[in-house]
Amino acid sequence: MKVAIFISGAGSNMVALINSMKEPNYPYEPALVISDKLEALGIDKAKKLNIPVIIIESYINSHINCNFEEQIFKALELYKIEVICLAGFMRILTANFISKFPGKIINIHPSLLPSLKGTNTHQRAIDMRLDFHGATVHEVTENLDSGKILGQISIPVYSDDTRQSLESKVRAQEHILYPRVLSDLLRPNKLPIQIIV
Ligand code: GRF
Repeated sequence: MKVAIFISGAGSNMVALINSMKEPNYPYEPALVISDKLEALGIDKAKKLNIPVIIIESYINSHINCNFEEQIFKALELYKIEVICLAGFMRILTANFISKFPGKIINIHPSLLPSLKGTNTHQRAIDMRLDFHGATVHEVTENLDSGKILGQISIPVYSDDTRQSLESKVRAQEHILYPRVLSDLLRPNKLPIQIIV
């Protein structure tokens, strides 16, 4: 089954997904990377891993946005993509686009959802003096960070943690969680994966 990974930035989760998919017997194949940012650092990393990359830049304009998703859709058809992993992709997809891949678009979010939807999650975890923080892989729906939870990884927050230290600890765990959730995605009757560090 062919997978496309959508990125906007560093692409560390993309690299973790691609490397896992290259392992023997992994049920998915990394077929395409799509970036909506020309300057995304992940683009070169994908090329070095021999994965085709298509850059489709987006604009904040509803008319062009429609065209943006049409271009993405054409690329996905060309590469026969069946599953989409959002990995630091900063563009919100429309309900119309999401409906074309029911249950097959997933995202990784840096918090223990439903806590801390949105941005700046690591600083908010510190400000709120949370005992635990982590990451969630969930189905993408038209409501931001609200789709069915497929897996979570949690880590303790220590009193000397900073935004940067939490971000780097959570990011390292994301690289374990995301490939595990993807490998299970289409297994019937699956339960959410819970990893406690
Ligand atoms: C990750 O923290 C992920 O949870 C969030 O965006 C970040 C992407 O990082 N959605 P990278 O580009 O995969 O390094």
